[in-house]
Amino acid sequence: MHAESSKYDILAVDDDPQMQFFLKEALERQQYAVTVAGSAEDALAALKTSKFDLILMDIRLPAMSGLDAVNEIQKIDLRTPIIVMTAHGTRDTALEAVRRGAYDYFTKPFRLDEMEIVIRRALERRRLMHEVERLREQLLTAGRRGRIVGSSRPMQEVLRLIDRVGSTDSTVLILGESGTGKELIAEAIHENSARRARPLVKLNCAAIPETLLESELFGHEKGAFTGAVGRKLGKFEQADGGTLLLDEIGDMTLATQAKILRALQEREFQRVGGIQTIKVDVRIVASTNKDLERAVREGTFRDDLYYRLNVVTVHVPPLRERRDEIPELADHFLADANSRLGRAVTRLAPDTLAALMEYGWPGNVRELRNMIERAVVVNDGDVLLLSSFPPPIRPAEMPTNGGQGRWDGLQNLSLDEKVAQLERAFVVDALARAGGVQAAAARLLGITERSVWHLVKKHRIEVSRLKAQRVES
Ligand SMILES: Nc1ncnc2c1ncn2[C@@H]1O[C@H](COP(=O)(O)OP(=O)(O)OP(=O)(O)O)[C@@H](O)[C@H]1O
Ligand SMILES: [Mg+2]
Repeated sequence: MHAESSKYDILAVDDDPQMQFFLKEALERQQYAVTVAGSAEDALAALKTSKFDLILMDIRLPAMSGLDAVNEIQKIDLRTPIIVMTAHGTRDTALEAVRRGAYDYFTKPFRLDEMEIVIRRALERRRLMHEVERLREQLLTAGRRGRIVGSSRPMQEVLRLIDRVGSTDSTVLILGESGTGKELIAEAIHENSARRARPLVKLNCAAIPETLLESELFGHEKGAFTGAVGRKLGKFEQADGGTLLLDEIGDMTLATQAKILRALQEREFQRVGGIQTIKVDVRIVASTNKDLERAVREGTFRDDLYYRLNVVTVHVPPLRERRDEIPELADHFLADANSRLGRAVTRLAPDTLAALMEYGWPGNVRELRNMIERAVVVNDGDVLLLSSFPPPIRPAEMPTNGGQGRWDGLQNLSLDEKVAQLERAFVVDALARAGGVQAAAARLLGITERSVWHLVKKHRIEVSRLKAQRVES
């Protein structure tokens, strides 16, 4: 569709000059822009240089037939609907064209109003398809960027790996301490794969009681055992075509490991109490916070299962090894807590950030998330104060000055990084006080507006958020 004229472009292909004239006349009267072509070859040439919203095509054409043209067009463009026109009594050919991918057909001689309905329906469907694609694209990018924060070097590597394995069916093993984001990463792998339209099924391997294990995995038939009142699909079957996340895989008993191994090897099984063999197509992603190699050495994890799972390994670093991500994560969880709790805490006080940067985070990202949420609940005012945090973070016991001052606690960071984090905190603070107006923040900071602009970019500060919240409060 041309934006200027908001007309749809139709390519009409017919070798009969009279028919060409008729189609052009009739369609232009309906406000369509029409290009005519006298042969399939001319039509293909036109398609290489221009975009059309719809193709109307005669089946009987001089050299290449309309049927073959349908095939050829689809090699160039699968989205533009093709409507074929056939002479009376050649319905089989029309159906063949539809089988090859044409959207619809009508037989000559046809009535104008009939043609108009078919065209309008085809264009509407095309518009919907575009819309669906656009929304899916939007969801995907939102899913990818909106949820995983990961600007640190080690996380960038993880995200790159996710991108690379996304398009494959490789088994992925995700290793990392508790709360590092393994489940989030498993979700991203699924969303990045061709399986995204199919389910991602999660199975917490540690939590299944031995007696229910088989039925959980493979399902059961009605009456298979006491309590099996209906047929139930197991996780493997639910995940057919999609991804199965075997979570907490390091906590499985040896018996469970044997069952899982068999299912992974054969990709087929029977439901409990069933005789039919069921084949499934699932991509396996496994995750654990346990040291699997050690478990293998100690004999608590089967080595054959380990090798089967360990095809591509993603190591998610603990939060203390990517401290430079803490400000960004903290902002992310602050915004999240605000919207979920209906609060308007706009920013972290500079000493809050400093304290978050130096804490050890044994519970990793989950702990940070929970801490922020709890602090938002008890916090008074629009600045998240250090006093709203519990003791391990609030440095009541820590020396606040002297030889071992608090800044020394930004342990693993270089001096440059420490300075950068504090710089960020002061810029956010000034911007918030200036209601998001950069010129005003510049005056508060005693630097030029241009420098503020640079700092905002450098530290990925969301000025709009500071502004919006300021207006509300
Ligand atoms: N990089 C990240 N960006 C945004 N949120 C994150 C990130 N990493 C983790 N989270 C959030 O932290 C919480 C814990 O993450 P997740 O459940 O994925 O951890 P896990 O590694 O599976 O933990 P466990 O081993 O305890 O199961 C979740 O709320 C998740 O959304
Ligand atoms: Mg998890």
